[in-house]
Amino acid sequence: MKATALAHPNIALIKYWGNRDHDLRIPVNGSFSMNLEGLSAKTKVLFSETLSEDSLILNEEEISGAGLVRVSQILDEVRKSAGILLYAEVVSENNFPTGAGIASSAAAFSALALAASKAAGLELEEPSLSILARHGSGSACRSIPSGFVEWTNGKTDQDSYAFSIAPPEHWDLADCVAVTSSGHKHIGSTQGHRLAETSPLQKARVEDAPRRIDICRKAILDRDFETFAFIVEKDSDLMHAVMMTSNPALFYWNPATLHVMQSVRDWRAEGLPVFYTIDAGPNVHVITLKEKMDEVQAKLAALKGVQKVLTATVGGAARLLEG
Ligand code: PMV
Repeated sequence: MKATALAHPNIALIKYWGNRDHDLRIPVNGSFSMNLEGLSAKTKVLFSETLSEDSLILNEEEISGAGLVRVSQILDEVRKSAGILLYAEVVSENNFPTGAGIASSAAAFSALALAASKAAGLELEEPSLSILARHGSGSACRSIPSGFVEWTNGKTDQDSYAFSIAPPEHWDLADCVAVTSSGHKHIGSTQGHRLAETSPLQKARVEDAPRRIDICRKAILDRDFETFAFIVEKDSDLMHAVMMTSNPALFYWNPATLHVMQSVRDWRAEGLPVFYTIDAGPNVHVITLKEKMDEVQAKLAALKGVQKVLTATVGGAARLLEG
């Protein structure tokens, strides 16, 4: 009883920050993302009678404690649905830095949801897979469907899932990720979501979210780069304003982060189609047209404080692999 799945991380275009229900990871606002082709997590799950406990190997390192508990919770759900009592061995690998704001948990938990359910003999439809992935990490629900993805916040466990609004080939975009630190972040997003409501700005951010979502959806469907750039950058700045004014405050940026943000604004003023968006970490996702990807990558790599630049185009859905 084994299966291997591959999933891409996704970059949030309209951010998810704060939960209505923390245990079930039901968000306070809807969000948008695109999957990142070229970056991926590959996860293999084996259920076997010979195992006496669940185990997790992530990037060749054995993980215990909280990381394993989070994975076991997903395995428990799968075991319950499939009516099996077997322990599992989970082996996962990312081809990009973990825990530095490149949504490693999104790729990992969506690949886990698909591999574990398949290994247990379940044939889950896309919404159910998205919900299962969401229980591991909210944003993971958006790495199940293909391309450009919307996650409606929903009110209950069963109506909070993600779906594709356009396939990857709809719009040839690229994400150049300026890595300014590849270390693990101090406060992860699970804890961050709990702090969101302590910021006096969160209420305004959440109330205005449906408007930003409508603008973002239309900009994607119309391939309107200018409006897209404006709303995605605004949404990222709004989330970071909430983070910085929560209690305790969360500052994810470093000096190089700011340097990249300012440079991107300057390049845009000079006519280059670029904008930035930043998740819960110091790395800057610089979105551009695919035809400009190499130029943007070179410009970012030349900036002081940028350690490396990862590139990705728009990616497909989570999928099963052989073996
Ligand atoms: O899914 P989580 O708990 O890792 O939260 C993700 C939060 C952000 O990346 C900052 C925003 C988002 O919508 O992905």
